[in-house]
Amino acid sequence: MDFVKEIKRLKKEKNAIVLTHCYQNIEIDEVSDFVGDSLYLSRMAAKTNADIIVFAGVYFMAQSAKLLSPEKRVFLPNINSGCLMADMINVENLRKFKSNNPGIPVVCYINSTAEVKAECDICCTSSNAIQIVKSLNVPKVLFVPDTYLGKWVQQNLENVEVITYNGFCPTHLRIRLEDIQKARIDYPDALILAHPECHGEVAKHSDFVGSTKEIMQYAIESKAKRFVIATEKGVVDRLNRDSKLNNWGKEFILINDKIVCQNMKWNTLEDIYNVLLKEQNEIFISREVAENAAKSINKMLYAGSIK
Ligand code: 13P
Ligand code: SF4
Repeated sequence: MDFVKEIKRLKKEKNAIVLTHCYQNIEIDEVSDFVGDSLYLSRMAAKTNADIIVFAGVYFMAQSAKLLSPEKRVFLPNINSGCLMADMINVENLRKFKSNNPGIPVVCYINSTAEVKAECDICCTSSNAIQIVKSLNVPKVLFVPDTYLGKWVQQNLENVEVITYNGFCPTHLRIRLEDIQKARIDYPDALILAHPECHGEVAKHSDFVGSTKEIMQYAIESKAKRFVIATEKGVVDRLNRDSKLNNWGKEFILINDKIVCQNMKWNTLEDIYNVLLKEQNEIFISREVAENAAKSINKMLYAGSIK
């Protein structure tokens, strides 16, 4: 079956859109209405007039789309695609963390479930984490679940203490300092660009640290011709594709071939076709959780719009 053709037909028939995270298998872009990082996609989910959103990403991303568009039906192509970091914290762990550090506002990385977001004060993504923590204007914050993103925020902000939960991304933690050292020898002319979910040592020895979007933007705007990318493979695949299509003459190299988020790759074109056809794997969130979690995300979007 020609899944691309069938998905396009079903999208039209059902007034549906496909939102695709940059870590997805690249062939999914062909049926996608928007491709990007989690902040961009959450903004698009809030704006769209579609009746149905198919979120080619992981579970928390589809939940976030539902929170921002409660009147729309949101589907996840493969219901088992969960973020390993998001699953490192649940409501019980969060309550314990809060009770050990009473009276401190909680900033929650968007890589968390709706249930966790509902008990936090404000959300952030890796694109706006520094800006969001700063916007609170408080001496201390709790940061969940990613300890490395939290520590990176701390390095970039004075006058605030960032107390981090001990979650992490197993994919980004596969990048070691030795990979950076090897890349410097193998590609002496290349710039090394890393995601803040990486270990602090990796971030420290990279030329640039930023979110998925920031890495892509930096690579596009830079005069350099070669880049070693210390984040998920999907970013490298898209940069190399765009370089070829637009004659940038740039080369992008994945720092090591294990930097693949397997859970992200579980979604296939066939899964997208099936959810559109059968309307299965729908995301439901209880009303109370949804109201509170949406507040955290909306506060982020509002704080993000203030310069
Ligand atoms: P972005 O916020 O950069 O899209 O990253 C999401 C993610 O899961 C990173 O591992
Ligand atoms: Fe989660 Fe890491 Fe995969 Fe991102 S790369 S979705 S943080 S497991």
